[in-house]
Amino acid sequence: MKPWIDVDPVTFEPMRIQAVTHHLSDHPLLRLGSLVDLAKRLVPIGAARFHSGAVGAETSFVDAPTRHPVGRPPAEILADIENSNAWFSLHNIQVDEVYRRFVGEVLDSVRPIVEARDPGMHFRAGWIFVSSPGAVTPYHLDHEHNFILQIRGTKVVHVFDPLDLEIVTQEALERFHGAGSRELVTYRPELEARGHAFHVRPGVGAYMPSNAPHWVKNDDNVSITVSFTWFSRETRRRRALFQLNHALRARGLSPRPVGANPLLDEAAARGYETWLRTRHRLDRLRGRPFHDIDVPFATNPPGSEYGTA
Ligand SMILES: [Fe+2]
Repeated sequence: MKPWIDVDPVTFEPMRIQAVTHHLSDHPLLRLGSLVDLAKRLVPIGAARFHSGAVGAETSFVDAPTRHPVGRPPAEILADIENSNAWFSLHNIQVDEVYRRFVGEVLDSVRPIVEARDPGMHFRAGWIFVSSPGAVTPYHLDHEHNFILQIRGTKVVHVFDPLDLEIVTQEALERFHGAGSRELVTYRPELEARGHAFHVRPGVGAYMPSNAPHWVKNDDNVSITVSFTWFSRETRRRRALFQLNHALRARGLSPRPVGANPLLDEAAARGYETWLRTRHRLDRLRGRPFHDIDVPFATNPPGSEYGTA
């Protein structure tokens, strides 16, 4: 299968931000008309998010939909995106059967290259962003690895190194993974020069590793962007370590930063994941609900901490 995304197998590194090219710009499932139809299926189940485009990088990403509403019904926003002054995202497109096949096909086409460096691709998902001229996506970070690909129009995607602790601190990562809070992930203009600024156009995009902070500004045009995301074995492992540190800190302990001692990290992550799997098995046996992320496609409940690529 010819890859839908051109990923250089020599330079691809799972935690390194890099530019990519792709072949999805003319895909019929990504035309505005198809997306208006998709929105009719996703909005009723809460798999959509929208706010005014007149926000800034520093705006709270989490609060933007309530603090900066658009003032029009979702179907109208999307159909008239040119004049809506809005940012509109379709979440978890894989819940739709047609788009699930699409997400699977695109990610399967790059899977051998990605997994050669970062095994265990799972919990795959797709997100589509439709935005008005000049709209801004506030600064934030997400859990998943992400290919963000431009389909229509141009925009600048600002991405920051997820391993630079001055940009995103240990405490911020622990709070994010352990409590689902982005409270400590705040935009600092003085660090802007340390980021990558990708001026993307149709056929061009970027690879954003798990936890890489980013913000986006549209040029003076309507923009359509698609993201394909996933977890790997390593993203799960890092997540477990930050969760564990968060739990220890809440009990008054001072755990070592994640990455400070790889051997200790390995032992801690194995122990924690084993405990989690045991807990899930017990919950399943007792008929209690639990959120299993060990699945090929993401099953994000509406409003969960996931779902903001
Ligand atoms: Fe994001």
